Amino acid sequence: MSDGRLAVHRPVLPLPLSHRGKVREVYAVEGDLLLMVASDRVSAFDVVMSEPIPRKGEVLTQLTAWWLARLQAATPHHLVTTDPGTILARVPELASVPRESWARRSMLVRRTDPLPVECVVRGFLAGSAWREYRDAGTLAGEPLPPGLERAARLPAPLFSPATKAAVGHDENIRFDQVVATVGAELADELRARSFALYEEARATAAERGILLADTKFEFGIDGSGELRLIDEVLTPDSSRYWPLASYRPGQAQPSLDKQPVRDFLDGLDWDKSPPAPSLPDAVVDATTERYLRIFELLTGSALDSFAPAGA
Ligand SMILES: Nc1ncnc2c1ncn2[C@@H]1O[C@H](COP(=O)(O)OP(=O)(O)O)[C@@H](O)[C@H]1O
Ligand SMILES: [Mg+2]
Repeated sequence: MSDGRLAVHRPVLPLPLSHRGKVREVYAVEGDLLLMVASDRVSAFDVVMSEPIPRKGEVLTQLTAWWLARLQAATPHHLVTTDPGTILARVPELASVPRESWARRSMLVRRTDPLPVECVVRGFLAGSAWREYRDAGTLAGEPLPPGLERAARLPAPLFSPATKAAVGHDENIRFDQVVATVGAELADELRARSFALYEEARATAAERGILLADTKFEFGIDGSGELRLIDEVLTPDSSRYWPLASYRPGQAQPSLDKQPVRDFLDGLDWDKSPPAPSLPDAVVDATTERYLRIFELLTGSALDSFAPAGA
């Protein structure tokens, strides 16, 4: 249940706004830092819903912090802290707004120049990868063995990069296009880091009965030229998590997080272009429950009792 907590659809903080994305407001903070505030906005079929999902932003932020602390391949990364007291000390402007509008949903991070490549790793054939394979027999331009079913496990995980589109859908690209964009050395490094992260996370999720079907990483170059893992990491918004118990290749798999929203929208006669229909309270509450549950399944702790190590 949302238990009456403040849901945040569009946070407005007294700081210079540097980016407003589908889910996050990113503010500039003195000292080459950014405050990344995860709102409770939810999108489905690439359209942002009008109703926020209470607790969602907090889940995304705390889960990112949990994975960053736990995965060896995550370092170096951009996170400085998610601890509200430490954030307040570094960003005194926040003292003038209600704490619930930013605390636990915000990450203080180092600013980087993001590389214009979404580093997707896929262990299973879902989403746009399934569509490319069904239509062309390839993934990221490379041929795959024939006869694979929808949601099939791939013979080995694949690096399947995409462009970071400013508007509209990201577009899958081939590895040689990554090389052309960032150079051969960096392209190799992005691929190797992405595989290492996927492998560690896949093993962790598997111990908890969850398949990590695919996930997307972003990297940036910091002020001293170092490559850092940035953005959200291994959240349900950037990853497909499937319950192992219900895994059935040959069909679409239920999503652990947004399924109530998708089911509701699928039952309507809506053409998937904005504005989105409004979500009933029961759908919103069921979605909050899903986000809390995936957090607990992965980390083994309830969100309310969670504080990341070293925060
Ligand atoms: N450390 C960082 N330095 C600079 N930009 C970052 C950093 N971490 C994340 N970003 C960028 O911040 C934005 C996060 O906002 P989000 O709502 O997720 O946007 P989007 O709709 O583009 O996914 C993304 O554009 C991401 O590339
Ligand atoms: Mg994003």
